[in-house]
Order: sequence, then C-alpha cells, then structure tokens
Amino acid sequence: MSPLRSFLFIPGDSDKKLSKVDSCGADAVILDLEDAVATANKAAARDKVTAFLRARPRERRPVQLWVRINPLDTPMALDDLAAVVAGAPNGLMLPKANGPEDVRTLSHHLDALEAAFGIARGSIRILPVATETAIAPFRLGDYASAGLERLAGLTWGAEDLAAAVGASTNLGPDGRWADTFLMVRSLTLLAAHAAGVPAIETLYVDFRNDEGLIASSRGARAEGFSGRIAIHPTQVAGINAAFTPSEAEIDHARRVVAAFANAGDAGTVGIEGKMYDIPHLKQARQVLASAQIKPAG
Ligand code: COA
Ligand code: MG
Repeated sequence: MSPLRSFLFIPGDSDKKLSKVDSCGADAVILDLEDAVATANKAAARDKVTAFLRARPRERRPVQLWVRINPLDTPMALDDLAAVVAGAPNGLMLPKANGPEDVRTLSHHLDALEAAFGIARGSIRILPVATETAIAPFRLGDYASAGLERLAGLTWGAEDLAAAVGASTNLGPDGRWADTFLMVRSLTLLAAHAAGVPAIETLYVDFRNDEGLIASSRGARAEGFSGRIAIHPTQVAGINAAFTPSEAEIDHARRVVAAFANAGDAGTVGIEGKMYDIPHLKQARQVLASAQIKPAG
C-alpha cells in the first residue's frame, strides 16, 4: 500500500466537523481527544468518537479513521483506550511520546484490548508525535532498533516542544522554523527512514494560505517526507497533490528502472547524457511505489 498522504485533524467534540469526514478527501482523519478538546468536554468527546467509529465498521470506511488519544502520563489515556478500541480505529496517534518505550507500552495495552474486543491482533497502528517533549528528540534514533510492529510512521510537532523548553516562539526572525525546531524536524525524517517507516510532516498553521501550504509541502516531499498533517479541510487537496508524484516524475522513474533492467546487472547507466547509479534506481522505485505502480524491471 502506498503511504498515507494526508491526515486531517478533526476535534472529537464537534458534530459539525465530524460530519465532514466522509467528504473531506483525506487519506486518513485523526479524531482528536487531546489538545483540540477542552477538559470539560473530554468525556463527551470520547463517547462521541467511539460512537462515530462504531457506526463505521472498517470494511465500510472510505477514509481511514485514526484517533489522537491523550498522553500516556495522564489518566485520560486509559479511559480513551478502553472506549475507542471498541470502534476498531485504523490507528492511534500518540502525542507527547517520550520515545519508543511509550509506543511499546501503548502497543501492550492494544494487544489486550484488541483481544477483548475481537479485533485482529496488531491491526491498530500507532503514529507517535515523536518530538513534543524535551527528552523525546534524543530517543528518535532508538525507533530503528525497537522492533515496534505497529509503528506506522513518525511525525513531529513544534507547538508542544516550544512549551516544553519555555520558548516564546518556534520561529526565527525570517519566519522559518527556529534552529531547535528545524533540527528535530530533520532528526524525525532521519529516524523514520532509519526505522523504515514514513516520515509525516507537521501541520501548516496558516490555513488560509494555499500557495504557502503547497510550496512547503512540495519541499517536504522533496526532502523525503511522504505525507502531512492537515488542520482544515481546504488543506487536504493541496497536500494530496504535493505528496503524489507528477506524471513527469513517474515517466522519468519508469525510464530509470527500464534502463537498469536493460543493462542487466550494471551498477550504473547513462540516460540522455546523465549518469545514474544505484541510489537513483532506489529513488525511482520509491516514486513508482508511492504512485502505486509496480516497477516493471
Ligand atoms: N475538520 C472538519 N471540518 C472542519 C475543520 C476540520 N478540521 N475545520 C473547519 N471545518 C469546517 C467548519 O466546520 C466549517 O463548516 P461549515 O462550512 O459547514 O460551517 C467549514 O469547514 C469552514 O470552516 P472555517 O470557518 O473556515 O474554519 P473555522 O474558523 O470554523 O475553524 C479551526 C478553524 C482551525 C478551528 C478548524 O479548522 C479546526 O478545528 N481545525 C482542527 C484543529 C485541531 O484539531 N487541532 C488539533 C491538532 S493541532
Ligand atoms: Mg499539542
């Protein structure tokens, strides 16, 4: 399966926003029980999200239904799990993960709850937000050797990390990410690839700026991210487009794969006066895989 390109956040306590799920066009939605829901609404949101999931069995979902639970070090996390697993979400986003051990703990809870609710073991995936506490970035490299079968990707967040380090902004004077945040973004990208899972770019907060979103998302894909968080339905189409290879890219990737196939075991080939070696072949195969096209060679 090609990686999920867009994950649209939907506050779990909003009937109006939940009603947009089936038409939003995202590859996945994340029904939020954490920061988008005020403390007084947590229990109601949990019930609403559980009912929403149960009304849409997995085999009748045009869009994957994920849930962002509350952080594991809050008592709400277990309440969230005990409720929402009954609805067989496709995955859970784990906010403020301190490292792979938190994902392992969540995975153990899921082993038991999937068994209790008669859901296929291991079928609920986990996407940790892997940079939201001060310790978390130091453990990013550990995901590669942690053997976490449910790990669906790694994503990063700049808002909670800013709060965690007492930063009054996460931006530099030029309006781009400040150094600390750029660093953890790069580390997330590297850690995801080291672990062999998709790297998911964080949200683009200026949700009325379509051009900025598209340019930023194209840049993220060029760097090796394979999808992005959305916060508003109007962001979904731009994100999907930015993370889908263009016809020209697909065409080029096909030619690279074909040239290597024709050259037998060659480690390097020439195409129109340019040298291509094994990393180019790998890239071409990745492009075809993300376009869900089986490489011919
Ligand atoms: N999911 C589903 N529907 C959404 C939506 C979302 N994330 N964001 C907006 N909509 C809907 C609105 O309900 C509105 O519906 P209507 O046309 O039927 O009235 C329509 O899209 C247009 O909304 P708009 O007025 O442009 O935005 P807003 O001011 O109502 O909401 C936000 C702005 C940022 C509050 C909203 O986009 C939102 O809640 N985003 C998700 C926030 C979140 O979950 N954050 C947690 C992770 S950081
Ligand atoms: Mg947060």
